[in-house]
Amino acid sequence: MSYLLGISGSLRGESTNTKLIRAAAKVYGGAFHEGHLRMPLYDGDLEEAEGIPAPVQTLSDQIKGAEAVIISTPEYNKSLSGVLKNALDWVSRTDGSPWKDKPVAIMSATAGRAGGERAQYALRLCMVPFGTRIIQTPEVLVAASGQQFDDAGDLTGEMNIKTVTNLMEALKAEVARG
Ligand SMILES: Cc1cc2nc3c(=O)[nH]c(=O)nc-3n(C[C@H](O)[C@H](O)[C@H](O)COP(=O)(O)O)c2cc1C
Repeated sequence: MSYLLGISGSLRGESTNTKLIRAAAKVYGGAFHEGHLRMPLYDGDLEEAEGIPAPVQTLSDQIKGAEAVIISTPEYNKSLSGVLKNALDWVSRTDGSPWKDKPVAIMSATAGRAGGERAQYALRLCMVPFGTRIIQTPEVLVAASGQQFDDAGDLTGEMNIKTVTNLMEALKAEVARG
């Protein structure tokens, strides 16, 4: 059965990026799975001795099987989070080019005023080798993200909801292109 996969670049329990992928998944509709980034740091010696760690293979399989993927990254020192980059590096070592031709939508949620724009560019750049079909617009940049979700964890703010809705519509249109 087809599903949407969501990947949050933050491990925090109260992560606003995790809330954002859940909000976007509600708009997208249908089955939704979350990928998890708790995995060892990439280490060539570990890979040689033990192969691909189980959580990495799970994530790779989830990506491969998804009809589309949404990723939300925090901005850490003007770039994507280390845990997300680590996961992307690990998954690039798995067989079967899981990202190839995959429709992907990127978002960011940050404490800062720019909403993670620089992190998004860094993320888009480092995904170039994977051959994904990344949606370019609209950009979902959730600034001051600690104030953009209600007590139930739902996204608030007219502009936030509008851009997420438009991005999910663009992602669906890309999926429909086949
Ligand atoms: C190491 C570190 C670096 C950060 N650098 C930035 C930054 O460059 N720009 C920014 O807007 N916020 C920055 N922040 C704040 C994050 O945007 C904030 O912690 C955000 O809530 C993280 O996303 P989360 O809610 O999904 O965990 C930084 C936070 C940490 C821990």
